[in-house]
Amino acid sequence: MIICIGAGPGDIGYLTQRGAELIRDADVVAGFDAVVNVVRSLIPPGAEIVTMGYRNQVERLAQVALAHHAGKRCVVVFMGDIHFSGFQYLERVERACGHEVETLPGISSAQILASRAKVCFDETTFITFHRRGDLDPFKRHLVHVLQDARNAIVIPCPWDEARSFMPRHIAAYLLENGVSPEHPTEVWENLTRGEAEWHGTLAGCVDREFTDMSIMLIRTRRPMPSQIEPPEGK
Ligand SMILES: C[S@@+](CC[C@H](N)C(=O)[O-])C[C@H]1O[C@@H](n2cnc3c(N)ncnc32)[C@H](O)[C@@H]1O
Repeated sequence: MIICIGAGPGDIGYLTQRGAELIRDADVVAGFDAVVNVVRSLIPPGAEIVTMGYRNQVERLAQVALAHHAGKRCVVVFMGDIHFSGFQYLERVERACGHEVETLPGISSAQILASRAKVCFDETTFITFHRRGDLDPFKRHLVHVLQDARNAIVIPCPWDEARSFMPRHIAAYLLENGVSPEHPTEVWENLTRGEAEWHGTLAGCVDREFTDMSIMLIRTRRPMPSQIEPPEGK
């Protein structure tokens, strides 16, 4: 048995009960070091822990796949929710196993942001730049989202200088592509663990530095009016 589970946004209090139960019953718990650390207190003493980083993830996942094929109960933990900015890692797990793998959703940093900043998913689009491959289609989509008067929740890309697409790069790109500098913009860092927040405009974001553990909200300048019935007597 092998299952991929979302470990939540960082504080173990946000791990689902089902996720905790699967970890407590596991023979093998695997994942990136920082994510395994979130759930470490739940891992049974006899279980094998397989940690990994970007460079050795393929060989470490091969080790997990071997254990899975030998009949061990394996859990691979993902940051936040698997279904936002986690599918490339899921693809690596499935490639190592040679088949599709079950997933258990977790609470995403995007959900915590939506809650802190009071934005409605229905009127918001989620975009990540924290992924391998061509980012251009995602950049263009972000411009369209804002042109279409939706909010955008954006995960930046914190990698090396050549690829890095952090809030200041995102803001500069949007301004170059005709998006208004007046969009209300927020950047939240380390949600659920010593949070920091910045509120300003897209233009004000252009020269600001944020840590790798940050998520951005670009609000529409034309929020949708209420579409529920008018209050009684009006
Ligand atoms: C590969 S993405 C995974 C996102 C994750 N699947 C989720 O649903 O939150 C990793 C990036 O998500 C953002 N992130 C994850 N947890 C965060 C948190 N607690 N606070 C702020 N940003 C977070 C950071 O930008 C981080 O570099």
